[in-house]
Amino acid sequence: MRELRKKEHVENYLRSMYEGDTLLSDVFLPNNSLPELNFDELDISMEFLGKKIDCPIMINAMTGGSEFTKSINNDLARLARQFNIPMAVGSQTIALCEDNSCIESFSVVRDIIGEEGVVISNLSASASLEDCQRAVELLNSDAIQLHLNPGQEMVMREGDRDFRGILDNIKKINENIDKPLIVKEVGLGMSKEVVTKLENIGVKYIDISGAGGTNFIEIENLRNADTDLSELFEWGVPTALSIIEARKVSSQLNIIGSGGIRSSLDIVKAVVLGADIVGIAGELMSYLQHGGYETAEAYLEDTVYKIKVIMMLLGKANIKELKETKYKVKGTLKELLEG
Ligand SMILES: Cc1cc2nc3c(=O)[nH]c(=O)nc-3n(C[C@H](O)[C@H](O)[C@H](O)COP(=O)(O)O)c2cc1C
Repeated sequence: MRELRKKEHVENYLRSMYEGDTLLSDVFLPNNSLPELNFDELDISMEFLGKKIDCPIMINAMTGGSEFTKSINNDLARLARQFNIPMAVGSQTIALCEDNSCIESFSVVRDIIGEEGVVISNLSASASLEDCQRAVELLNSDAIQLHLNPGQEMVMREGDRDFRGILDNIKKINENIDKPLIVKEVGLGMSKEVVTKLENIGVKYIDISGAGGTNFIEIENLRNADTDLSELFEWGVPTALSIIEARKVSSQLNIIGSGGIRSSLDIVKAVVLGADIVGIAGELMSYLQHGGYETAEAYLEDTVYKIKVIMMLLGKANIKELKETKYKVKGTLKELLEG
């Protein structure tokens, strides 16, 4: 059942049509005509989870659990290794109860990336502490992501309906697991109130995974012939708003900005708004599935190059300086921030 569902998630993601809005286009960055920098010396490397990575991009959680998804994880891990960027695997729930071939569809990621790279485990935020520890052990992960996905569950016929106790569960895991814990959404975004609650219980890494990209309400709706929930496709906190509000909660939080990140300009804007690193899921899956490994490789190569081009036009020599860029907001984003 789970194996089929993970395959359907990939297929339905590729079939999805709804175009959301991250509101990143409502962010204005000023042109700097006097950058006084040498392009060859621009430095976009940074540290994440205790390891040096080459740019502020991570491959976000998507898949694993079958031969089909093993081959996807294989390619994503090769990309992560080639570009020296972190990679999160998809939910490992299936690997905790199924056979060895299923485990290999996840462990292939650590095998390819090696111990010097960053690999991140993934489970539901309702998972037990023991399952989290096993998920980390399976990959010798550098961190574990726990996903919050009530929007997705509510559209799934077989989905969870009782969300009580999840905050306490996250607190217990955070206090007892010996690896950093990242709490993430799956594309519907986190409100300031949710980020505040997580921060109050000691969570230090938050992936706001905002609305405007992969839409799990649509993906699950395509699996469900009985009820049409298309009126909820517009639901969610847009990525730009979610990053700004999360950053307002605390300057100390490690914020992963994800949800609808496609271009280098999206990445730069997300960092300027307050993200420490940016996650990409669906866009990379599209390049990989539609064009193959070389196309996905070219997309990342191009993206990295263009991040530097934009940094030059902002007059920023490194990621620390980039984070200090003054920006303006307009349109819907401005209204939502003021409203
Ligand atoms: C095919 C697919 C499968 C996904 N599976 C998971 C998952 O198992 N666990 C999880 O936390 N997020 C999962 N996600 C959500 C992504 O990690 C990310 O939060 C979301 O897609 C928004 O980013 P995007 O717009 O760049 O895709 C999945 C996304 C896609 C496209």
